[in-house]
Amino acid sequence: MRTAAILITGAGGEIGHGLIERLAQQSEKPIVTLDVRPLEAEVARCTSQEFVGSILDRSLLDRILAEFEVDLVFHLAALLSTRSEFTPVAAHEVNVDGTLNLLEFAQRQGESHGKPVVFLYPSSIAAYGLPDLDTKARVGKVKENEWTKPTTMYGCNKLYCEHLGRYYAKRYKQLAAEPLAGKVDFRCLRFPGLISAVTVPSGGTSDFAPEMLHAAAQGKPYACFVRPDTRIPFMAMPDAVEALLRLAAAPRLSLNHTVYNVGAFAPSAQEIRELVLAAFPNAEISFAPDHKRQGIVDTWPADVDDSAARADWGYAPAYDLERCFAEYLVPTIKQRYAQAP
Ligand code: SER
Repeated sequence: MRTAAILITGAGGEIGHGLIERLAQQSEKPIVTLDVRPLEAEVARCTSQEFVGSILDRSLLDRILAEFEVDLVFHLAALLSTRSEFTPVAAHEVNVDGTLNLLEFAQRQGESHGKPVVFLYPSSIAAYGLPDLDTKARVGKVKENEWTKPTTMYGCNKLYCEHLGRYYAKRYKQLAAEPLAGKVDFRCLRFPGLISAVTVPSGGTSDFAPEMLHAAAQGKPYACFVRPDTRIPFMAMPDAVEALLRLAAAPRLSLNHTVYNVGAFAPSAQEIRELVLAAFPNAEISFAPDHKRQGIVDTWPADVDDSAARADWGYAPAYDLERCFAEYLVPTIKQRYAQAP
């Protein structure tokens, strides 16, 4: 017989790092991970089996299918927005073909054990595309169904995979004799930029905020690649992890949507700089906008309307901007770099 397990792809990434620890605390079920790189020892300790390999390797996914009975998937593996612009075809392969492989995996799992597989998919504010700064300023908080004309390969990939997930959940092989849809219980969060005190992102375009903070905490100068007035939503990593877990646990019947915005605060780059300087007064933070990366961030909304998430499954971030810096980022990051300079 197969072993019951939870599967996490991209487990070594920023979200995976936080998620695995929390999941290991709250769930009895073994955690199986799949990542192209071996996990750090402290993360690996929380897992029962670690597969090192690609989500594009279907034979590896078949092996996991043969060995484990999975009814919960966190599909976190992706190439982020900046990196994807340098290798758009590779981005499409990882972000779209890889997601298709995981949706097929979940479908096969559901067919084999008869229960719907809850499939958590992190999408992004990159799924939005505002045409210009005037519109961005005018519309403020965007709803899930507005302004979805992404300008990056990553954003296109994420938006399309939201549709793919909905297709698997509701319409999979809709012309087949027997009903096959409903095996994948697809649930998607559109995350804002995420800020973690323990990990630094790589290859994203919202990275200016975490990079500024981590550079300051290490006493390194930082030149921010966007203008001081740049504004997009962000949230603290523990809230992102909590949101994933809460959405995963929500009763199916309470979910009126497939895709949910989640946000927490929406500071300008200048406001982030001020908070970082208040915590690290000697920090050297300048602005040297890279007009191409700026161009991407300028198409992302200034904030998101997450009222559907709040109403349907009780989304409620613990950290607003001040609390996030005072109670999470600054103390945790000081401790982190004191331990590992
Ligand atoms: N943080 C991501 C990025 O910058 C957006 O989802 O690519």
